[in-house]
Amino acid sequence: MDTDEAINTRRAIKKFDNTHKMTPQQVNFLMDLAIRSPTSYNQQNWRFITVTDQSVKDQISKAARGQPQPSDGSLVIILCGNMNAWKEDPFRYWKNSTLEKQEHVKNAMHTKYVDSPQNQRDEAIRSCGFAGQTIMLAARHMGLDSCPMVGFEYDELAKIINLPNNHLIVLMIVVGKAAEPANPRGGQLPLDEVVFENKF
Ligand SMILES: Cc1cc2nc3c(=O)[nH]c(=O)nc-3n(C[C@H](O)[C@H](O)[C@H](O)COP(=O)(O)O)c2cc1C
Repeated sequence: MDTDEAINTRRAIKKFDNTHKMTPQQVNFLMDLAIRSPTSYNQQNWRFITVTDQSVKDQISKAARGQPQPSDGSLVIILCGNMNAWKEDPFRYWKNSTLEKQEHVKNAMHTKYVDSPQNQRDEAIRSCGFAGQTIMLAARHMGLDSCPMVGFEYDELAKIINLPNNHLIVLMIVVGKAAEPANPRGGQLPLDEVVFENKF
């Protein structure tokens, strides 16, 4: 599938085919593409919980205020940010590079994040945002559909997935086969309201 077709046909699906299953190989293929998403300093601060177990998917639907997509979809992915990634053995993020480069990145990340929970949190959200779009477009490439979701009780979901300290749930994405087409598009804003040449 061409990239433009994947972009144009990615829609937030409300009704998934609850008989459709993904194989572990398909889940791995998808996640292997997900980790090609860019992160600042290549810190790879996303952590993904992949859920195919029906009983856990059902618990997630409950935490999602009864929304049916997690229960009915084939795969639920909870995208979390590790806000300590910048200081967890950071040389490994540049293991293919020189020691000089590794030192440089370690120091730059230390400066940016050490005293700034806001920067740590922003980075988690940025990284998971990119990974989320990668996942949704890769799903289209695989002939699958998706729904990004933040309509859930945060603490309930955190408990279900055993969220560690210093991790933030950024969003969840349900992947599966659409049982019904998405609702008609809400309506895009015109380009000239959102795109500015050179400056605002
Ligand atoms: C961060 C985020 C959270 C969302 N949360 C939900 C949700 O909880 N439930 C849902 O049905 N759709 C959810 N959506 C889907 C949006 O409503 C949908 O993306 C938007 O209306 C545009 O439609 P489209 O994705 O089909 O183009 C969410 C989308 C985003 C990006």
